[in-house]
Amino acid sequence: MKKIDPCTLVLFGASGNLSRVKLMPGLFRLDAAGRLPDHMAILSVGRGDVSREAWQADIKVMLDTKFKNGYDEAVFKRFMARNHYHANPPTDPDAFKKMQAKLADESVFPQNLAYFLSVRPTDFAPIVEQLSGVGLLDETNHWRRVLIEKPFGTDLPSAQALQASITKHLKESQIYRIDHYLGKSALQNIMLTRFANTMFEPIWNNQYIDHVQITNNETLGVGDRTEFYNNTGALRDMVQSHLLQTLALVAMEKPQDLSPESIRAEKVKLLQSIEPIPVDDLNKHVFRAQYAAGRVCVGDGHGENVHGYLDELASVGVTESVTETYAALKLFIDNPRWKGVPFYVRTAKRMHEGNTAISIRFKKAPMQLNDEQHQNWLMLNIQPRECIKMEIESKIPGLDIATRTLSIDSPQRQATDESIDSYESLLLNLMEGDPSLYLHISEVEAQWRLMDPIVKAWAADKSPVHQYIAGSRDPAESSVIFESEDQFWRYSIELNGDKHQS
Ligand SMILES: NC(=O)c1ccc[n+]([C@@H]2O[C@H](COP(=O)([O-])OP(=O)(O)OC[C@H]3O[C@@H](n4cnc5c(N)ncnc54)[C@H](OP(=O)(O)O)[C@@H]3O)[C@@H](O)[C@H]2O)c1
Repeated sequence: MKKIDPCTLVLFGASGNLSRVKLMPGLFRLDAAGRLPDHMAILSVGRGDVSREAWQADIKVMLDTKFKNGYDEAVFKRFMARNHYHANPPTDPDAFKKMQAKLADESVFPQNLAYFLSVRPTDFAPIVEQLSGVGLLDETNHWRRVLIEKPFGTDLPSAQALQASITKHLKESQIYRIDHYLGKSALQNIMLTRFANTMFEPIWNNQYIDHVQITNNETLGVGDRTEFYNNTGALRDMVQSHLLQTLALVAMEKPQDLSPESIRAEKVKLLQSIEPIPVDDLNKHVFRAQYAAGRVCVGDGHGENVHGYLDELASVGVTESVTETYAALKLFIDNPRWKGVPFYVRTAKRMHEGNTAISIRFKKAPMQLNDEQHQNWLMLNIQPRECIKMEIESKIPGLDIATRTLSIDSPQRQATDESIDSYESLLLNLMEGDPSLYLHISEVEAQWRLMDPIVKAWAADKSPVHQYIAGSRDPAESSVIFESEDQFWRYSIELNGDKHQS
C-alpha cells in the first residue's frame, strides 16, 4: 500500500452526474477500506450557495442511492467530517480569492491540493487559470495536482490549444488526464497476462497472430445524452480514447520496468506507429452505421422495444444526422512485430449483447486434419465478465481422426476478490501521485491524429448512414473492412458462446 500525504481533494462539479454516481460513492468506499489518510479533506466547489449541512445531506442521498444495503455508521460519520462545501458563483469576481482564503485554514484543509475538474470541458482551462491567479497551483511548499476529465479536446487542434492554456500554469507532472478505462483492473491485466507469462511473448506477433479484435458493444442507446452524443459520435466517444488505449496495451513492446514513464513511453511509441487510415480509401478501412428501431435485451433478460437513433433525435428537434452509433475500423501497426496484422476495433450502441473484449485469432495450424478444424482464439474479456478464454483443437475420442474445439475458460475474478471501481483506483493514484494510469499529452495527440481525418471525412459525407436494427448483431455490410473472407466478428466469450459469421 503506497503512502498518501495529508491532502485536500477539491472537487469541482461535485453536484454533477459523475460525482453523484462514481466519485462520492468511490471516495466513501476508499474511506471504508481505510485507504484515505486520516488527514484528508474534501472540498466540493459549486456555483450554488449551499450550506455545509445541506451539502452533507445531499451526499447522504448520493450514498443512500448507491449503497442500497446500507453502510457503516462510523465510516459515514468520519466521511461526513471530511466533507466541506464552497460556493463559487461565476458572477463573483472574487470567487477564487475567497476559495483561496478558505483553503488557507490549515487546521481544516491539508495544504497538498488535488483538484478534480468534473465539469464541462469548456471550463477546464478557465478554472486552471483562475486557480493559478490566486496562487493555488504553486508547488513551493506542497504538491498541487489537477485531474482533467475526459475529453481532452475534441480534435487535435483543440487538444493542443487546451494543453497550451493549462501548461502556462502547470508542469506536465501536475497534470492528470483521465481515461477511466485504464482504472479497470481487467485492462491492467492485459499487461500482466502478456508479460508475467512465458508462453505468450513468443507467439505475440505477426508470425502467429492472424488478427486482433477489440470490441466494446452496448445494449444501451444514447439515453438522455442525445445532444452530447450527436455532437460526438462513437468514434470520438469510445475509439479515440478507451479503445486505442486498449489496443496500445495489447500491442506495445515490453516496458523496461513498471514505472509510469516506461509504460507511457511504450504506449506512445505504439500509438505513433499505427498507420494513418487512407482517407481516399476509407470504405475498405472504416464502417459506420446508426441503430434503427428494434428490440433489445434488458437487464432481467426480457426484451424491450426501442426507438431508432434518428427518431430519438427527431423528438428533440434534430431532423438529420450522420453521427455514427456504430463504428468499425481496421488498423495496421507499422513495426516488425505487427506488420500485416489487422487490428479491428469496433464499438456500437443497441447491439444484441453488451461486451468489452479483446479477441485474438491465431493463424491456421501447420497441420489441417479436416474442414471442421478451427483456428485458435485467445480472449481477454473486460466486461461484463472478467475472464480469460482459450480455444484449442483436440481429438474427438474414438476411432476416427477428427477434432473439436475445447474451451479453456477461467474467470479472473474470484468470490473473495476486492471489487474496485475504476474511479476508486484513479482517485487513489491521484492522491498518491502515481500517473501510470493517466494519459501523457503525447498519447492524447497521437490518438487525435489518427481519428481526426476519419471524423472529418464522415462529417463531410452527408449521404444517409447505414441503419442496423436495435438488438441485432453487426451489420453484415461491416465485413467490407475484413482483410480476408474467412474473418468474422467474434461475439460472446461465454463458455459455449456463439461464434457467428456476421
Ligand atoms: N457522467 C459521466 O458518467 C461521465 C463519464 C465520463 C466523463 N465525464 C466527464 O466528467 C465531467 C463531468 O460530467 P457530469 O456528467 O458530471 O456533468 P454534469 O452533470 O453536466 O455537470 C457537472 C457540474 O458542472 C456544473 N455545471 C453544469 N452546467 C454548468 C454551466 N452551464 N455552467 C457552469 N457550471 C455548470 C454543475 O455544478 P454546479 O452547478 O454545482 O456548479 C454540475 O454539477 C465532464 O467533463 C464529462 O465529460 C462524465
